[in-house]
Amino acid sequence: MKRQLHLNLFMHSRGHHEASWRHPDASPLALTDIRYYQDLAQRAEGARFDSIFLADQLALGGDVSQAPRIWLEPLTVLAALAVSTQRIGLIATCSTTYTEPFNLARQFASIDHISHGRAAWNIVTSWLASAAENYGGEGQVSHADRYARGEEFMTVVKALWDSWAADAVVDDRASGLYAHADRIRPIDHRGDFYRVAGPLNMPRCPQGRPVLVQAGSSDTGRRFAARHAEAVFTAHMAKETAQEFYADVKRLAVEERRRPDQVLILPGLSPMIAGTEAEAQRLAREVNDLTDPEVGRKRLSNRFGGHDFAHLPLDTPLAPEDFPDPATVQAARSRTMVIINLVRRDKLTLRQLLGYLAGARGHYVTAGTPEQIAGLIEDWFCDGAADGFNVMPPVLPTQLDAFSSEVIPLLQRRGLFRTEYQGTTLREHYSLDWPVSSFDAAREPVVQEAD
Ligand SMILES: Cc1cc2nc3c(=O)[nH]c(=O)nc-3n(C[C@H](O)[C@H](O)[C@H](O)COP(=O)(O)O)c2cc1C
Repeated sequence: MKRQLHLNLFMHSRGHHEASWRHPDASPLALTDIRYYQDLAQRAEGARFDSIFLADQLALGGDVSQAPRIWLEPLTVLAALAVSTQRIGLIATCSTTYTEPFNLARQFASIDHISHGRAAWNIVTSWLASAAENYGGEGQVSHADRYARGEEFMTVVKALWDSWAADAVVDDRASGLYAHADRIRPIDHRGDFYRVAGPLNMPRCPQGRPVLVQAGSSDTGRRFAARHAEAVFTAHMAKETAQEFYADVKRLAVEERRRPDQVLILPGLSPMIAGTEAEAQRLAREVNDLTDPEVGRKRLSNRFGGHDFAHLPLDTPLAPEDFPDPATVQAARSRTMVIINLVRRDKLTLRQLLGYLAGARGHYVTAGTPEQIAGLIEDWFCDGAADGFNVMPPVLPTQLDAFSSEVIPLLQRRGLFRTEYQGTTLREHYSLDWPVSSFDAAREPVVQEAD
C-alpha cells in the first residue's frame, strides 16, 4: 500500500487564529462546554482523522480581557471524549516539570483503558515562565534543567507502565486468583529528581504504553524527541526548514537505534479554505481585522520569556537586533528562532509580524482552494518535509468542516489518506510498533501492518 498520510486535529479555542473567538462563523458554545470538544472530536472521527490533540498551559495568560486564554484540564476532557468517540486517537498535553510521574502514568494508562487503546501524551517541559508561580514560585526552571528532569521523568513513567506484564491479570473468580504476583514488580527508582517504588496500581494498558508525542525543536528538544517520541509536532513557516528538521530528527532517531518510520513528523498547518483563492484570502483578512496588536505584543513577550517589546513602533521594519538572543531564552527556544528568521527573511514591521503570528503562532498559515491545500500537503509529504500534519483550522468548526469535506476527499482520491479506519487503536492508525515491556524483552515486538 502507498505510504499513508497522518492527520491530527489540533483543537484550540474557537480556532487557531488569535481572533477566531470573535468570528461569527465560530461555534456559539462556551469554551467550558464539553459538548464543544465532543462535537469537534466526532466531526474529526467522521473525517477519519488519526487523532485529536489538546494543548495546555499552566497559568492564565496576561491578556484574558481580550482573549479566551482559558484551559480545561486536558486529561479530564480526554475522558469525556473517550466515551463519545470510538476510533479516533486522543492526545493530551501534560508537563514533566510540574507533574508527579506516578500520577501521570496512572492518568494516561487510565485513559488508554477507558478508550480501549487510543491514548497519547504530548510531553512538554512547560516553557511558560508564569507557570512557575503556580508550582512553588521559585522562578522559571532553566531550559537545560527542564529537559534533564524530563529525561528522568521518562525513565520513571516507562518503567511504571511496564511494571505489569500483559498477561499478569487472571481474574479467575472460581479459583480466587486475580493476578500472577510474579508478573507484577516494583520499579524501585532512585534518581536525582524522583524516588518512586512502584509498581503502577493498574494492569498494563491496551497499547502497552500510551503513544508518546513531543514538540521540542531546539537541539536538546530534537534529541529528546529522537529518544522518546513516536510523533513529533513542529512549527515551520517554510518547506525548507521543515525538510531540514525532518531529516535531522530521523537521523537522530537512527542514532538512538530506532527505525525512522517509528518517529512521525507532523508540522502544523493552518489553512483558510474557500472555493476561490480570492475568497479564501478575503476570509483570512476578515478574521485578521478582528485582531488587537496589543494582544499580539503581549504574546510575543511571553514567547521571549517576558522580554519587553513595548518600545517598538508598530509600522517600522524590525531587525533581528530588536529581539533577545534565542540562546539566552529559557522559554520556547525554537519558536523564537522561527520568529527571528521570519523577520530576517521578510523584513517585517511589528504589525505585520503580529498579524502573521496571530494566524497560528508561528505555524504554516495559508489561504486557498481545496486543490491548492491538497497540493501543498502532497508536496511536503512526498518531498521529505512531513509524515502528516497537525491540522489547525483558523476558525472552528467551519474551517474543520471545509477541510474534511473538501480537502480530505482529494487526498483520498490520490490514495494518500485512509477512507476507513483499519484498526481500533492509535498505534494502528500511526502504524507504530507495540512497545516491548521489560517483562517480555525476550519476545519479539508485534509489528502492526500499515493501515
Ligand atoms: C504543535 C505544538 C504544540 C505544543 N503544545 C504545547 C503545550 O500544550 N504546552 C506547552 O507548554 N508547550 C507546548 N508546545 C511547546 C513545546 O513543548 C516546546 O516547549 C517548544 O516547542 C520549544 O521547545 P524547545 O525549547 O526544545 O525548542 C507545543 C509546541 C508545538 C510545536
